[in-house]
Amino acid sequence: MTIGICNDHAGVDYKNALVEYLTAKGYGLVNFGTDTTDSIDYADVAHPMADALTAGKIDLGIALCGTGNGMALSLNHHKGIRAGLAWTPEIGRLVKAHNNANILVLPARFISCSEAEAIVDKWLTAPFEGGRHQRRIEKIEP
Ligand code: RB5
Repeated sequence: MTIGICNDHAGVDYKNALVEYLTAKGYGLVNFGTDTTDSIDYADVAHPMADALTAGKIDLGIALCGTGNGMALSLNHHKGIRAGLAWTPEIGRLVKAHNNANILVLPARFISCSEAEAIVDKWLTAPFEGGRHQRRIEKIEP
């Protein structure tokens, strides 16, 4: 499984921690984010990762910015992308189980690195429940 990861300046430390954490678990990681704390615009890194996901070059994505909202707003403009924000492990589980999010968005300025790891774990391991949730996600794109 290959996971893309993108971040703005608010998420560099979290990206590095998650890359180490997930690499140790055997996942392949592709870095679309910035590697410095110099200020950048989240959309500039969000769109290339969304394009890679819709092209099948990565299987899933993780995005980090200060609140998560800039990333989610940018990513969700792409057809086929369901980028869901999660700030607790239970929301991480539900954003897969109910929304089948193919990109997990994390608010780096409002969670710790260990919380980010726990949220990612739940999102990666939860099965999508399908059924009524499949019907609902099919209604997202107008
Ligand atoms: C950067 O200061 C901040 O605006 C960004 O990380 C994010 O929170 C935007 O939604």
